[in-house]
Amino acid sequence: MRMVDLIEKKRDGKELTTEEIQFIIEGYTNNTIPDYQMSALTMAIYFQGMNERERADLTMAMVHSGDTIDLSAIEGIKVDKHSTGGVGDTTTLVLGPLVAALGVPVAKMSGRGLGHTGGTIDKLEAVKGFHVEIENDEFIRLVNENKIAVIGQSGNLTPADKKLYALRDVTGTVNSIPLIASSIMSKKIAAGADAICLDVKTGAGAFMKTIEDSRELAKAMVNIGNNVGRKTMAVISDMSQPLGYAIGNALEVKEAIDTLRGEGPEDLTELCLTLGSHMVYLAGKAATLEEARQKLLEVISNGKALESFKIFLQSQGGDPEVVDNPSKLPQAKYTFDLPSLEDGYVSEIIADEIGTAAMMLGAGRATKESVIDLAVGIVLHKKIGDEVKKGESLLTIYANQEQFEDVKEKLYANIKISKQKVTAPILIHEEIGKD
Ligand code: URA
Ligand code: CA
Repeated sequence: MRMVDLIEKKRDGKELTTEEIQFIIEGYTNNTIPDYQMSALTMAIYFQGMNERERADLTMAMVHSGDTIDLSAIEGIKVDKHSTGGVGDTTTLVLGPLVAALGVPVAKMSGRGLGHTGGTIDKLEAVKGFHVEIENDEFIRLVNENKIAVIGQSGNLTPADKKLYALRDVTGTVNSIPLIASSIMSKKIAAGADAICLDVKTGAGAFMKTIEDSRELAKAMVNIGNNVGRKTMAVISDMSQPLGYAIGNALEVKEAIDTLRGEGPEDLTELCLTLGSHMVYLAGKAATLEEARQKLLEVISNGKALESFKIFLQSQGGDPEVVDNPSKLPQAKYTFDLPSLEDGYVSEIIADEIGTAAMMLGAGRATKESVIDLAVGIVLHKKIGDEVKKGESLLTIYANQEQFEDVKEKLYANIKISKQKVTAPILIHEEIGKD
């Protein structure tokens, strides 16, 4: 096989066979296919697309380009959840203990990464003593015993995707549905998921800004999953404004605790119930989504969800007392309320800019070397549609520095107040893959 023939084939809008796709991904992973040929191919895919079969083949070729995690020693159906990323997205912290309380095994491999706030592991490390450096055997034992454990990323998962994503980043080919969908799905499958629940964000703060693009991506991923034998469902949820109120690591842990207690923000709670229902259903712990939701509400009100979080923290060295006493979480030295400059209704809270403001306070990493300040961040008091009076607090800033004029400026510039009444955005746009 010659790569140049395959580039021409795709350029001319023809289908690549399973063997051809395997040849490409193997060759690219072991450097026998150079970047310039792979760039030409990704551009051809960008314009010509890929059919369902090609997408499934590309996904599995990337899965097999490196190590895969074997979770077969864990009893039950392992459901993994993936979010395409947003601001102040506390759902993973809530969903893990929530569904574990119903016996759904949560075997989470998680990373740190760059962003407005830390990743799930950074957030959990706001709990004193909590650590994810555990052996594989211990990880599996904990999931079997408590139904939940988190381990740091290890092994060489999907090296083809790492190389390809970096190449796409500099060749104008990130924004291709078949390439995005296979990239995301390959990572979930390599990490050992039997079933996958996707949270595809839409709106200003999301990777996909329009509902049409979000729907296309969600459908593409659901089809890939189902075509390769992993039951997959997707929710398209709003990210035009940050989710919940808290943006920051310790602040989000506190928000997760509130939510597990049934006292969390309405939007975060609703999204967790929706995604959680899908996870419980996919894991075979409820016959319908409605039954799954009822069971989730039950473990929130009877305290089992909160108890599951405590056990999880304690089993990985964390201080479970933070659950009853969140003041044991890292606390910022300074707090500052940002007063509204006028009367009206909140019409916009531009999610990614608010996230950047949190990062400027130190809540996230700008570069791999940045050190996160777990205590700092922002807690919103108003969301889109809320009425606000002049002088009333829009949000509280939690900081460890005395000077944050630039942060205040950024926040004022990205929270819009209108004189007219504004309706709150729809939270759950669509659910894809419920049959
Ligand atoms: N996220 C991924 O993991 N891959 C993509 O291609 C795009 C977003
Ligand atoms: Ca939040």
